[in-house]
Amino acid sequence: MNVKPSARATPLKVRAPAATEADAMGGRPLTLALPRGRILDDALPLFRRAGIDLGPVEKARAGRRLIIPIESANLRVLIVRDIDVPAYVEGGAADFGIAGRDVLEEQGRDLYEPLDLGIGRCRMVVAEPEGRAVDESAQVHLRYATKFPEITRRHLQDRGIVAEIIKLYGSIEIAPLVGLADRIVDLVSSGETLRQHHLREVETILQVSARICVGRAAAKLHGDRIDALIRRLRAVV
Ligand code: PRP
Repeated sequence: MNVKPSARATPLKVRAPAATEADAMGGRPLTLALPRGRILDDALPLFRRAGIDLGPVEKARAGRRLIIPIESANLRVLIVRDIDVPAYVEGGAADFGIAGRDVLEEQGRDLYEPLDLGIGRCRMVVAEPEGRAVDESAQVHLRYATKFPEITRRHLQDRGIVAEIIKLYGSIEIAPLVGLADRIVDLVSSGETLRQHHLREVETILQVSARICVGRAAAKLHGDRIDALIRRLRAVV
């Protein structure tokens, strides 16, 4: 298997014969890293439709528990920040996880991406202030503010644009309004944040949705069990 992080979602190959429900339940619990926030909100009903009840995760939210056993599915769920999911999975601390394509592409880790869940949909765009369009060909010092410096670097390289990249951690939309940057690269969902700040989209860089990601070791050791779960999810995506 050689599924690069930037590749489109592709099936995780099954080395063992087709797994049965009993196989899927056998052995130690599989560890699943889930990102808190919007993706988790959408993932819980999806898993429920697939017959995997993550009810204890919902209950544990109020209690701030971050490691949650799901005995009915022989799973252990880790609740982590979205940008940390790939590190847990690549490091083998979680067998598989759910991460946005934005996070996976930015980090470029060595993970399989067997299934796009179609949740957490948004777009990564370049935007600039209305009425202050950037002239890309002018010999001026351009600054791009973003949470995604690597994706931005690749985009600029593809376009042949020389610019400084300013890494921020949130509220990206204000950067061009207060003189920190000329353009931003950020996620757009409803478009309301751009509208509120009088920014216009220049172009879309990436269509984003959440994907299952699987670590190399887990794919080797537990590929049949993970595939059995993925088949159930694929049926309801
Ligand atoms: C995200 C994104 C935009 C906003 C887009 O920010 O970075 O700012 O949502 O959503 P919209 O198109 O529906 O308005 P988030 O809420 O994660 O906060 P952040 O700015 O602190 O990253």
